[in-house]
Amino acid sequence: MREIKTLTNHQIELMRHSGEVMKGIFVGLRDFIKAGISTKDIDTFVYDFIISHGCKPSCLGYMGYPASACLEVNDVVVHGIPNENVILQNGDIVGVDICVNYKGIHTDACRTYAVGEISPEAQALVDTTKESFFVALKNLKAGSTTGDIGEAVQKFVEARGYSIVRELQGHGIGTTIHEEPGIPNFGKAGTGTKLRENMAICIEPMVNMGSRHVVFEKDGWTCRTRDGKWSAHYENTILVKKDGVEILTLEEDDEYAKLYL
Ligand code: MF3
Ligand code: CO
Repeated sequence: MREIKTLTNHQIELMRHSGEVMKGIFVGLRDFIKAGISTKDIDTFVYDFIISHGCKPSCLGYMGYPASACLEVNDVVVHGIPNENVILQNGDIVGVDICVNYKGIHTDACRTYAVGEISPEAQALVDTTKESFFVALKNLKAGSTTGDIGEAVQKFVEARGYSIVRELQGHGIGTTIHEEPGIPNFGKAGTGTKLRENMAICIEPMVNMGSRHVVFEKDGWTCRTRDGKWSAHYENTILVKKDGVEILTLEEDDEYAKLYL
């Protein structure tokens, strides 16, 4: 097993800066995302924003991935490849999953946006997915385990009648986007890897309206729900501290910002 890294103070500063750029992208996408644009248009927005802020899109070329963002429309769970022929329609939901590299240090985060007016059912799915992330942060600090996160997310999501995707998980992050430990969105509190001060991790619940099962497409990336029902995704990069956590990629005006910035 690879060593689980903690960050130096300098690396933490770089990661905070990377997170600031990520926040700017998410704020900018609020106005940019609307019916009639393609998922490729979103990717272009993300690429241009990252480059014009002196950073690099970590996803571009990562294990051969061909774009700067992953675009997750409706039943796409994760890793949807941007496509000029996929046009957003009123009522869709679209996850935008992005990694930003600033001087060799990465952040990774995702938001699921509403396109125009979405159904109450879709809104509830999106809201529950985001809330499950914050439920997992309660009491999280150095000494907590990855299983504490998994159990918190799973219990919250399943109590509302949704299911948790198990094939994909959160992860450590730092000089590469995917580091140890893996962080499943299900499990048992007290089990798994113990978190230490100054570790950076990504927690990313992927929540399905129907069954938890997924299928992977022949393009080698796109992951969809097996039953075609919709899925939502929410993710932040967080820094583990002695007494709690700091979220590095949370918009300043977010309802949870007072608690975690
Ligand atoms: N946030 C995505 C993940 O953790 C990042 C994927 S980058 C890609 O899997 F290149 F793999 F798409
Ligand atoms: Co991630």
